[in-house]
Amino acid sequence: MILCAATNCIPIIILNLRSIEYMSEIIQLVYASRATFESPNRAGIDLNVARILMQSRRNNIKLNLGGVLYYGDSCFFQCLEGEKEPLEATFDIIKHDPRHSDIKVLMRSTVPERTFGVWSMKYVPAQADIKRLLQTKGLERFDPYQFDTATIEQILGILTNAADPTKGASHITHNAILHFLETNKIIASLVGLAIIIGLMVLWWL
Ligand SMILES: Cc1cc2nc3c(=O)[nH]c(=O)nc-3n(C[C@H](O)[C@H](O)[C@H](O)COP(=O)(O)O)c2cc1C
Repeated sequence: MILCAATNCIPIIILNLRSIEYMSEIIQLVYASRATFESPNRAGIDLNVARILMQSRRNNIKLNLGGVLYYGDSCFFQCLEGEKEPLEATFDIIKHDPRHSDIKVLMRSTVPERTFGVWSMKYVPAQADIKRLLQTKGLERFDPYQFDTATIEQILGILTNAADPTKGASHITHNAILHFLETNKIIASLVGLAIIIGLMVLWWL
């Protein structure tokens, strides 16, 4: 009887493990756009960009979205990461934002894990490292519309390692916990399995 019950439970366990995997399917979307506002030539973060960042962090944290935003030469380069549904819904809102135009999707793929896991939206201002990379490719300005896949990946690499001058603890903590759970799928699966076995034992008693 125990063997029979255990056999019946195997498909349930497999389904459960699959659903954990499905739940954590992560989409990474990278796009470019042009700011429709003028940025005064002074040091520090542009007020428009600061507002965008504030909104992004407030909203993304609720939807378990994350990523990075780069702003240089009046162009945005944003990488958004998260589950498909909230990500596409948010991107739909972003596309209609009058603060930018000429939105062009540069990359959209399913990734095994987030690159900017702990960030609801990391911000990296114009960077010497990026200027150097562009120079090696004969590009004088930050013009993401010209980037090939290799350049996009190199830029993402630089943004991963760059510091965020607006970094604060509050927007990191929540995402850091989610990131831990997401990247520790084995632990999450074992907890799921333990719960199922516990329920089975309770049912038999
Ligand atoms: C370049 C750019 C990037 C943006 N990124 C995000 C984002 O990651 N998440 C988000 O919720 N809103 C983002 N926004 C803002 C949205 O377009 C929209 O203004 C905002 O989600 C509205 O939120 P609210 O109704 O809570 O004010 C971005 C806007 C721009 C121009």
